[in-house]
Amino acid sequence: MEPTGNEEYTALPRIGDKAPAFKAVTTQGEIDFPKDYEGSWVILFSHPADFTPVCTSEFMTFASMQDKFEKAGCKLVGLSVDGLYSHIAWLRTIKEKIEYRGMKNVEVTFPVIEDISMTVARKYGMIQPGEATTKAVRAVFFIDPKGIIRAIIYYPLSLGRNFEELYRALIALKTADAFGVATPADWQPGDDVIVPTAGSCGVAKERMEGKAGDMTCYDWFFCTRKLSKEEVLAKVVKS
Ligand code: BEZ
Repeated sequence: MEPTGNEEYTALPRIGDKAPAFKAVTTQGEIDFPKDYEGSWVILFSHPADFTPVCTSEFMTFASMQDKFEKAGCKLVGLSVDGLYSHIAWLRTIKEKIEYRGMKNVEVTFPVIEDISMTVARKYGMIQPGEATTKAVRAVFFIDPKGIIRAIIYYPLSLGRNFEELYRALIALKTADAFGVATPADWQPGDDVIVPTAGSCGVAKERMEGKAGDMTCYDWFFCTRKLSKEEVLAKVVKS
């Protein structure tokens, strides 16, 4: 294959990979990632730059939802290619000066990694040269308690993320693990879930006839079952 000139940026971790390990300085002290987060879900996310408007709106939103993520057993870790003192000054400005959409006095207490050398950003494919060579794109890595990457979302610089969607994705991933199901389009807790296709012919025939126990089958390959919101919340979100 012809070299593109962008090889140094192209380490793209994939779903199912072990999260690349690194040690870093953050606004909350040093971290050893993902080791320090073993046993917990963690979302590692990047933002392009401190003191920029989209990123400020995102940080205020994410910090305001931090308790909700913590209750669902998930910690947050931010990153940009800015330095520690820039992070500290920006987070102080957010807390002391910015009032936005009913959010004010917002304190960001999750760690934000300084990554001036771009070492971490490169390991996680956060530098995407077609978009920017000096800033990370808006990347989101969902990492499970065993340190495995379970979902990845990338957004460009101009597009602020939907944090309710990140929460929905976390709950859906945890629901899939806890109940051995998959979740359909736009799924929310309380909606029917998808039952994996069964191997045996008998079950397939029942599915064809729409008579497979408590399942509703739309065809042999597409069956759902009920799963109450209470069951989901009891198992995947701490009360
Ligand atoms: C922003 O967060 O507003 C932003 C950051 C980098 C490029 C464009 C927008």
